[in-house]
Amino acid sequence: MLWEVIMKIISFAAVKGGVGKTTLTFNFAEYLIGQGKKVLLVDSDHQGSLSHIYGALTETDTLYDVFTGQNIDLHKINDQLSILPSSPELDRLEATLATRNNQNLLFMMWLQDNVEEIQDFDYILIDCHPDFMTITKNMIAVSHYVISPLEPSEFGFMNLGIFNARMEELKQETIDIRTRESYIDAKTLYVPNMIKHNTKSSREFLDSVAQFDNVATDLSVPYREVFNKSTLENKSVFTLLEEQNNQSAHTLYKQLDDIFSHLTERISQ
Ligand SMILES: Nc1ncnc2c1ncn2[C@@H]1O[C@H](COP(=O)(O)OP(=O)(O)O)[C@@H](O)[C@H]1O
Ligand SMILES: [Mg+2]
Repeated sequence: MLWEVIMKIISFAAVKGGVGKTTLTFNFAEYLIGQGKKVLLVDSDHQGSLSHIYGALTETDTLYDVFTGQNIDLHKINDQLSILPSSPELDRLEATLATRNNQNLLFMMWLQDNVEEIQDFDYILIDCHPDFMTITKNMIAVSHYVISPLEPSEFGFMNLGIFNARMEELKQETIDIRTRESYIDAKTLYVPNMIKHNTKSSREFLDSVAQFDNVATDLSVPYREVFNKSTLENKSVFTLLEEQNNQSAHTLYKQLDDIFSHLTERISQ
């Protein structure tokens, strides 16, 4: 399909909340913008954290309208960034979507129908609600990669297993009847997040997941206060570290820049 060759679509998804989906979506978007890329953000979490960060909580032109078949305009933040905001009503759609034909492919059809509007973007980054329901499935269905943050705990390990199983089910349930091929192409990449390097539990966690080839232990995101500050103040970690302008901020800036740079390389494959 056309958009598949002109841009990369990445969903940030997990079965659990509080693992860093929104934080990573926001900061990765800001990283890409810093690299001169054009980014479209899609907020498919009805809690609207990402929309809030960009002051884009609105009642018009939201993802809800997309799913109910209305024409919408993307919210332009600046020349490099637009957002398709969430709506607090979004979760109420689940019941109605359940009765629709091709219920997992509605957003894919919207992208096809609106390729003119989206073809200028280099990346679409999608922030999902922590679930594996119809709206999340729609987001995964259009994605090249699903990035699933893993927190360093036994829950992180458990969530990896659950998420893998859900992805497999989704692939099997979303097939073209004639060819028997799945519409779901997305590769899953697990990114350990909030890793405390000097703790035994983080080390044990990384050791335990290193056996899986889709866990990017080399892209592990460290636990750093600047991420908390980032979501509180709606500023990227890069902006915050530039403002700090001291040696330890420079070092961390370089470290995070490297992680996002490697992530960009990884998802280009
Ligand atoms: N690497 C990190 N270091 C420190 N705090 C983090 C990190 N990643 C996320 N956080 C914090 O953890 C909390 C949950 O993150 P959030 O992105 O909202 O999770 P989700 O979107 O998965 O529910 C937020 O307060 C965020 O600032
Ligand atoms: Mg979130």
